[in-house]
Amino acid sequence: MAILLTGGAGYIGTHTCIELLNAGYEIIVLDNLSNSSVKALNCVSELTQKNIKFYEVDLLDATNLENIFKENTIDAVIHFAGLKAVGKSVETPLHYYHNNITGTLILCEIMQRYNVKRLVFSSSATVYGVPKSVPIFEDSPLNATNPYGRTKLMIEEILRDLYIPNEDWNIAILRYFNPIGAHPSGRLGEDPQGIPNNLMPYITQVGIGKLDKLKIFGNNYPTIDGTGVRDYIHVVDLALGHLKALEKVMSSPGVDTYNLGTGRGYSVLEIVEAFERVSKKKIPYEIVDRRPGDIATCYADATKAKEKLGWIAKRDIEEMCADSWNWQFNNPNGYESSKNIHLIN
Ligand code: NAD
Ligand code: UFG
Repeated sequence: MAILLTGGAGYIGTHTCIELLNAGYEIIVLDNLSNSSVKALNCVSELTQKNIKFYEVDLLDATNLENIFKENTIDAVIHFAGLKAVGKSVETPLHYYHNNITGTLILCEIMQRYNVKRLVFSSSATVYGVPKSVPIFEDSPLNATNPYGRTKLMIEEILRDLYIPNEDWNIAILRYFNPIGAHPSGRLGEDPQGIPNNLMPYITQVGIGKLDKLKIFGNNYPTIDGTGVRDYIHVVDLALGHLKALEKVMSSPGVDTYNLGTGRGYSVLEIVEAFERVSKKKIPYEIVDRRPGDIATCYADATKAKEKLGWIAKRDIEEMCADSWNWQFNNPNGYESSKNIHLIN
């Protein structure tokens, strides 16, 4: 069974590659490497001792994308490829809309042409905007608040529209909450370019001494200690969720949406404490103004994924922090400093 992973060289994509290869799937990765390194795929290949067919192709390049479908018999697609930085999406909205939405349209057109009609799509909890209540259910109101979030919301709608006249399509839309952590080997992890926007890579870079101190964006939210609360999920649990979603799209037609989270929220201060406990590193911090666009609390109700996909997140917050730290400690400069010579293909 061959699975095409768009954006498969990225953070969540590489962790999913590992789980798919370990489960016996054949994988084909497409990535333009705009936010990733081929070294990450080499690590996947080394860790699994399996080959990966890799195409350095942009989703917007319809000709080369179509060639991948001509050259391979593809059973299903997991569509990770996309730009994901909220702030950048506000600065360059057309770039975000074009990359994420046009890229998805081209992909779906070619899938339709080649009769590949099983798709797992990476959506995000960001489509819930400012939640009216928590936990958040799949049918809670949707309201993205920035161009990035709107690309996810629009793609979700495109996929639902695609299904209406094409009931032989099988589509799983996965709304991820906050993925953190890394592969337990310490060889794969999140490798943000420049100063991290997200909490965990910022903390680990303070831990390693690349950054001085964490800036906590506000301590006057209506939460347990005033700092923002999120549903952090270990990236390996998230990767395993894709295997379950894949089984679902292999077996039953339809388009359906699933929250992938743990169902439990942690505040920024709780994350700092958990990280300090497992890493034995002190994380100095200061409280600064709220970050525009941030919400107080966000966590999932993940019952649907449990009941319909048979999936549940198993790794706890300490394991998430320990694996994030293990990755950062062993790769202080991310893939730039990772040593490997194994060639894929
Ligand atoms: P990532 O940036 O590490 O991976 C995305 C990959 O897509 C990158 O390797 C990038 O080079 C590639 N890509 C982007 N545009 C492309 C294009 N036009 N053609 C080919 N390749 C392209 O991000 P990630 O964290 O692994 O996220 C994967 C998906 O999950 C994204 O769609 C993201 O929006 C979504 N998501 C991520 C998070 C998160 O916090 N990490 C949360 C919710 C949803
Ligand atoms: N935070 C800080 N300091 C930092 C970074 C973050 O205090 O330097 C706080 C934020 O205010 C928030 C929490 O840490 O309370 C988490 O922030 P992240 O930036 O790590 O994550 P967000 O919940 O803001 O957003 C992330 C992705 C979105 C995605 C969303 C849900 O960036 O794209 O998770 O999946 F939509």
